Amino acid sequence: MSYPIIRPRRLRESGLVRDLVRETRLSVDDFIYPLFVCEGAQVVSPILSLPGQNRYSVDTLVTECRRAVDLGIKAVLLFGIPDDDIKDDVGSCAWDKDGIVQRAIRAIKGAGLDLLVITDVCLCEYTSHGHCGVVQGDRILNDPSLELYCRQAVSHVEAGADMVAPSDMMDGRVGAIREALDGIDAEHIPIMAYSAKYASAFYGPFRDACGSAPSFGDRRSHQMDPANADEALREVELDIDEGADIVMVKPALAYLDIIHRVKQQFGVPVAAYNVSGEYAMVELAAKAGAGDRERLVLEVLTGIRRAGADLILTYHAPYAAELLGRS
Ligand code: PBG
Repeated sequence: MSYPIIRPRRLRESGLVRDLVRETRLSVDDFIYPLFVCEGAQVVSPILSLPGQNRYSVDTLVTECRRAVDLGIKAVLLFGIPDDDIKDDVGSCAWDKDGIVQRAIRAIKGAGLDLLVITDVCLCEYTSHGHCGVVQGDRILNDPSLELYCRQAVSHVEAGADMVAPSDMMDGRVGAIREALDGIDAEHIPIMAYSAKYASAFYGPFRDACGSAPSFGDRRSHQMDPANADEALREVELDIDEGADIVMVKPALAYLDIIHRVKQQFGVPVAAYNVSGEYAMVELAAKAGAGDRERLVLEVLTGIRRAGADLILTYHAPYAAELLGRS
């Protein structure tokens, strides 16, 4: 049976019918809003390469979280930006109980906001050399770094974090962190693992925001080669075996096939990180008049969901929440 009996346009001609048969729906429930917290008071410092996003001090961060809650956002992901002068070669300020992230968690929780606080676990924002772990010569050592991520994760949870998200891509870190959390009776705290994290050029604005670009070399010894897909499935499988509750693919747009395959193969909750460079690309395109901002944002987020992501980490979370609230 085909044309003229079958006419796919019948289901497209009216908005009401289109709504009825729409396969993918965006919901504010699925957004995680990444936020940067820095030292100081009353700081709202614009991140130039991430137009519309800011570094917040703890006090203004709470205000921004309140705005997010008012928009219906359920979860934030915190990144700490410590002052440069306290960074050292192992990133010890990352597990200081009065570190920047630990204070931010306590402030958000103290404000009584109904908000899931997720923390990024990695050392690159805390080390003087900007690498994600312990460095010896020009190598990043795997096993000695694990213990440091455990300390960091434990200290976030002790400060009140609801979930931890290791983003370092060292081997074995999910299992190590799971064991460390269980050791402090935090077996109820989920781990969202950055399982398939690629060595991507799309992290530029983030590193600018955090001052976390490596002072020498790059991250290709631990982050994945953008050319590989089967390897992503092996990484995801390892993380699930080690106890990951949610697995993440990062970035999102150049990796929609990975999101799709991970969801198909494992059927676990899949998060996709629509990273800083992807956000900047949309914002700059809209600013240049190359596309309508509202439509670009919704199309990008819908595409990520359609590929198979259950959750989306996106700097567009508040803007998209506003748009969804309007429709
Ligand atoms: C590492 C980390 C990075 C991002 C999230 N966690 C940067 C990196 O691997 O260099 C990038 C996020 C983004 O670009 O939005 N702590």
